[in-house]
Amino acid sequence: MQRLMDLAEIGSIDGGGCARLALTDEDKAGRDLVIAWMHDLGLSVTTDVIGNVVGVWDVGSGQPVMTGSHIDTVRTGGKYDGNLGVLAGLEVIQTLQENNITPLRPLAVAFFTNEEGARFAPDMLGSLVYVGGMPIEEALEIVSIDGATVAAELERIGYNGATPCPAIAPHSFIELHIEQGPVLEQEGIRIGAVTGVQGISWQEVVIDGQSNHAGTTPMSMRKDPALVAAEITVFLRELALRMGGHQVCTVGKIDLHPNLINVVPARAILTLDVRNTDEQLLIQAEKEISDFLAKIASEEQVRISTRPLARFEPVQFADSVINMVHEIAIEHGHTVRYMPSGAGHDAQMLARVCPSGMIFVQSRDGISHNAAEYTSPEDIEAGSNILLHSMLQMAQSEETFA
Ligand code: GLV
Ligand code: MN
Ligand code: MN
Repeated sequence: MQRLMDLAEIGSIDGGGCARLALTDEDKAGRDLVIAWMHDLGLSVTTDVIGNVVGVWDVGSGQPVMTGSHIDTVRTGGKYDGNLGVLAGLEVIQTLQENNITPLRPLAVAFFTNEEGARFAPDMLGSLVYVGGMPIEEALEIVSIDGATVAAELERIGYNGATPCPAIAPHSFIELHIEQGPVLEQEGIRIGAVTGVQGISWQEVVIDGQSNHAGTTPMSMRKDPALVAAEITVFLRELALRMGGHQVCTVGKIDLHPNLINVVPARAILTLDVRNTDEQLLIQAEKEISDFLAKIASEEQVRISTRPLARFEPVQFADSVINMVHEIAIEHGHTVRYMPSGAGHDAQMLARVCPSGMIFVQSRDGISHNAAEYTSPEDIEAGSNILLHSMLQMAQSEETFA
């Protein structure tokens, strides 16, 4: 808990939250602090070419059992998203060391670069590159929302490491994370055994119309990108409600140009975040959105172009890990349920190369990506203990843990 509160001091914002967008000065300061803690525990620390940091407790033999998450945040983030998973990993190692328990395999704690995707798209960039899902050359050229490249920012903060990617796959991977949704709290359940992560589709939409005088231009003669941005936002909400189930759609960002009170805008730029646990339904949602964009462009006489920012299919975690988390939770006297994740996570990338899974703990009022994010110390202790026992059990197992 002390480490969580200390890390949250870096980039702290009003309301108790954090602003540590990936590869900013605040992210660098957070990285430096976590690495100092890794050294305190005697871990061997490496930084790879995309800036992922891995601390290894080099005991036992074979490939490490890995845990971890991210320490970057959205600009209006909380203390727990990502940070909990990294610091709980350190706590697991410290607890085992203090109790003279040596696992049969090395244990590794990682924090991955730009999990949030709030500054550079796609999200989960560091873990994606780590598992070979994107060539490093391509990742380094990605441009942020403020115009800087990944390469330049990694170099500027001194986290352009030497360890190559793709990396050698760990033996297995498990991540503790806050739920970031309301289900566990509403059902009064302490632990989530996470079954997988829903698919995600991000795109940027640029609408070009005709800038003109707000007082003199008759409504019938307007080519108004602000109106079209609003129509798209309403359509996404209606689409998600109509499809039901796990379908969610969000317009999180709308920029108008020139953004002045008495000017019909020339341009609107908005982002669409569309997610579903079912790949076929996600494809259907994307198709309906694309059809709507074509229709509204013609009706309102604007030009619309789109740029994909992220696209990941739904991920299923390993049954071995899901069931292990469920069993350990019960053994420790906790209520537990199976559940999918609505948020993206580094574990979904690690799932491409080794048996992987996640443990969820409650988020008060289901609030996350918000300074008010909160998880109780009791829940954090429960989740961290399940992480500890999961990692020990994974370290006992043979080469395959599928
Ligand atoms: C990443 O944190 C996301 O799910 O938006
Ligand atoms: Mn997270
Ligand atoms: Mn997040």
